[in-house]
This record gives sequence, C-alpha cells and structure tokens, in this order.
Amino acid sequence: MVADHYSPPLFSVAPMMDWTDHHYRTLARLISKHAWLYTEMLAAETIVYQKGNLDRFLAYSPDQHPIVLQIGGSNLDNLAKATELANAYCYDEINFNCGCPSPRVAGRGCFGVRLMLDPKFVAEAISLIAANTNVPVTVKCRIGVDDHDSYNELCDFIYKVSSLSPAKHFVIHSRKALLKGLSPAENRSIPPLKYEYFYGLLRDFPDLSFTINGGIASIDEVNGALKAGAHGVMVGRAAYNNPWHILGHVDTAIYGASSSGLTRRQVLEKYQVYGDSVLQRYGLGPSLRDIVKDLGVKTLTCTGGLLSSFFLLPFI
Ligand SMILES: Cc1cc2nc3c(=O)[nH]c(=O)nc-3n(C[C@H](O)[C@H](O)[C@H](O)COP(=O)(O)O)c2cc1C
Repeated sequence: MVADHYSPPLFSVAPMMDWTDHHYRTLARLISKHAWLYTEMLAAETIVYQKGNLDRFLAYSPDQHPIVLQIGGSNLDNLAKATELANAYCYDEINFNCGCPSPRVAGRGCFGVRLMLDPKFVAEAISLIAANTNVPVTVKCRIGVDDHDSYNELCDFIYKVSSLSPAKHFVIHSRKALLKGLSPAENRSIPPLKYEYFYGLLRDFPDLSFTINGGIASIDEVNGALKAGAHGVMVGRAAYNNPWHILGHVDTAIYGASSSGLTRRQVLEKYQVYGDSVLQRYGLGPSLRDIVKDLGVKTLTCTGGLLSSFFLLPFI
C-alpha cells in the first residue's frame, strides 16, 4: 500500500555510502529541520541476514525525521523481507536504488544501475516492496547506462516502472553511468550532466513527480531548479562538504520557515554532546574519527575532548 497524498520533498540530502551515516544526519538535522535525509544505501541482504543486530543498520534518532531508507538489491524475496523488517523503524519513505554503478553492487546479480536495463523487474521489485510497507516507495536512477542513453530509452524505463508499479516519484541523477572503465567517483563526474533529459521528463510525464539531482552546489541553484518546475531537488556532495552553507539556508530560503536559530558554535556544541554520548555509549564502537569526519577533519589528535578539536575546523 502506498500513501494517497504524497508530495516529494522540496529539498533532500542524497544517499551517500559511508557519508550519510547516523553521525552526519545528526549534524545535518541540527542545521536544517526541513531537509529530507536519506540513509546510505542498505542492501536487502544486509538487513535480512542481520536479524540479531538490526538496530546497528536501521535505528536512528527520532529527530532525523523526515528520513528515507534507501534499499538496494535484486532478490525479490530478500527485498520483501527487508522491507518488512524495516517497517518497525518507521521510515517516512523507501527508495529503491537503480543508480549505483559500483562494481561491488552492479556485479552482484544485477543490482544498482544495471536494473535500469530491466524496467519490468524494477516494477516487480517496487510492487513487492510497496506490498510490504505503508509508506511511499520511490526510485533513484540515472538517465541511462552505457550505450542505452537515449532520451527515448529513459522514457521507456520511466513509463514501464510507473505504469507497472506504484512508484510515482523518481529521483533523477542527471548523468548516465558506465558499467566498465570508470570508478564510482569518476561515474559521478565524467559522464556529462544532461539536465535537458530531466526537464523532458517533467514535460512528458505530467502525472509523475521528479526530483533533480547531480551537480547542484548552491541554494540559488536549488531555487532555480524549483522555479523551473522540478518537484524536488536533491543535493549530495555539496551538502556534505559545505553543510553550513547549504543546509543552513534550506529552512528559510527553500521552505520559507524560520531558521533553527542555532549559531554555528551552538550547532557544534550540540554535536559535541552527541559525539561524546556516542563514544561513551559504544566504547569501542565508532571512533572519534568517525564522528568528526563529517566536519571535514582528515587527521586529528584529540586530547581535550571533541569541542576543542572543532574549533580548528574550516566548518567554523
Ligand atoms: C561518497 C558517495 C556515496 C554515494 N552513495 C550512494 C548511495 O549509497 N546510493 C545512491 O543512490 N547514490 C549514492 N551516491 C550518489 C549520490 O546520491 C548523488 O546521486 C551523486 O553524488 C550526485 O549528486 P551531487 O552532484 O549533488 O553529489 C553517492 C555519492 C557519493 C559522493
């Protein structure tokens, strides 16, 4: 079942493996109350085979709503089971990954962006996920794969998935992926961005919702895309690398709401409290480096608690 009244978030922070973890999302939420936050992609198998330790992968602080769980996978049984197990964690939406070109993912039984070559399978997977949850199920994809990169092929994918499944919202990373020869990082910069494909989808599928993603690096660009008709804008690297400059303006400039009212110093002080509590709670769990990495610290020797380290950071 999918919720009847769904409108895509105006602004979201992209799912990013190893980056949009619980620590980063905690920091992001201190800066913006309205941005939608995505988890890192979680493989269905990871959820299914970690039954005893699900909290480690799926638990999050309630402050992090609205939050989307991104799932990847190609085994229908596991996708259904993973969705069922995730229900207890009350995510606001489930997003199905059809955009990841990593060989770690794409080589494992047609997973990630390779799925764009099989829209009927994607529709089947989405239908199964949707049958096991009450929250909306959405898709994140590229504009093409390898030589399958024409606008017509993209339309065929969107048409088949949306007509054969309940998915009505697509996040479009507006560049294609190459399955061979490029590293995942190169696949996020070398294939050119083709926003014209995104705006073509807006025009040609007026009953669907589309979020634009890829290369958007300022609040002015976010507002520009919304003014041009995008239903939502997703920002990845810029929101991670410059959290204050991007997320610090989302509530006021995108949502027309008041800001959190926290100064940068107050954000850091609150994050310090969070960091110290995590370190105390888990002992040998996350390291100090894990917790401060989202602030841009590459090497750090800390002797006086987290906060004294924060003051060295470009974030301030
Ligand atoms: C470190 C890193 C990890 C990523 N992991 C994921 C992921 O788990 N799932 C996904 O759909 N996209 C992933 N992406 C792609 C981003 O979600 C996004 O589509 C891409 O970075 C383009 O947006 P940007 O130009 O705003 O960064 C990742 C990107 C980065 C930089």
